[in-house]
Amino acid sequence: MKVAILGYGTVGGGVATVLEQNEKKIAQYLGEDMTLAHILDLRTFPGDRNEDLVTDDFEKILADESVRVICEAMGGLHPAYEFTKKALDKGISVCTSNKELVSTHGPELVQLAKDRHCSYLFEASVGGGIPLLRPFSTTLMHERITRVTGVLNGTTNYILTRMEEGDAFETALLRAQQKGYAEKDPTADIEGIDACRKTAILASLAGGAYVSPDEIPTEGITGITSVDFDYARTNGYAIRLIGQVTLTGGATGALVAPFLVPEEHPLAGVHDVFNACIVHGNMLGNVMFFGPGAGDKATASAVVSDMLDAALHDGSHVFVNLTNVPALRMDDEAMMNRFFVRVDETAKNAAVRAFGEDITFMEARSVRGEWAFITPKISEQAFRDALHSLDEVRGYLRVLK
Ligand code: HSE
Repeated sequence: MKVAILGYGTVGGGVATVLEQNEKKIAQYLGEDMTLAHILDLRTFPGDRNEDLVTDDFEKILADESVRVICEAMGGLHPAYEFTKKALDKGISVCTSNKELVSTHGPELVQLAKDRHCSYLFEASVGGGIPLLRPFSTTLMHERITRVTGVLNGTTNYILTRMEEGDAFETALLRAQQKGYAEKDPTADIEGIDACRKTAILASLAGGAYVSPDEIPTEGITGITSVDFDYARTNGYAIRLIGQVTLTGGATGALVAPFLVPEEHPLAGVHDVFNACIVHGNMLGNVMFFGPGAGDKATASAVVSDMLDAALHDGSHVFVNLTNVPALRMDDEAMMNRFFVRVDETAKNAAVRAFGEDITFMEARSVRGEWAFITPKISEQAFRDALHSLDEVRGYLRVLK
């Protein structure tokens, strides 16, 4: 079984390592060797053990009839989209970690794979190495999924963990960059865009109807300060960037935002670059998936699991529950959360007028000159309306149940 890798970076390099180090286990399971035949990259890799396999010509890989599975680890939309389409069109399965491509064009690519009797698989696109996505298309298919709640971005979770320990945002970001977690341009991570793409994929799989990342309200972590952590610590909360999916009455609601998470909640115990996801099924109740959300070998392990699945089903299509049917979007009136709000101390009465008498005031050890409170459960729409009626808002976070 010949395979190729597109993109010899962190994930592509990891896939080469997994194929090499677990060669025997892979051959045992597959019944034959899985042999790396080509690597596509514009760069050259003098001295690398796979130096001779590297080409900058995608057509050369396509022309090799013996290649049956391709790992696309290029990232970005273009030319990953075009290369994936060409490969699937030829009946070659493609396995990817590219959440941008999957969340944007996934349904079309899955349909093309189905038409050409091959597979488009993307386990590594959400939750790094955690075997999180496959259950949505296999063991959970009979369940009515009602909620998916996850810590889905390793970089921001690392930053929030450092801030919890007293680092300022800028220091924590710098440390994340030094450790190789955050990109030089960290926008996609810190603004929640990466988590949004992952949430869109989860929402689409959970409901069996497509949710575009463009439809998901997204807030990142750049507005969080040491003041928020002071309140969180004083009142027994952690702060986590959460991807939240709610499915009721045939509609899907999703959002990405930083939440206060009670210390006893399992997601509060997810630190550093780890990810976790709680899935609620109507018969099953809650199940939680936890593990390394990033990292070369962990993510590559998930890609290789897909490559094996595709190889074992060479000539046929491996089902994934990602369809072209657009999801019915949940009304903002139906999306409910509790909110932690900080206002100037002069705005206490206005806050009570806007949010009602049921708000719970909160204190922080070393914060003066402001009022902070948690609202009862209200809709996203009601929150926005109330917020707009207040002049002196210093910040807000949602609160996880
Ligand atoms: N930038 C991503 C993260 C990589 O930090 O989670 C894994 O998808």
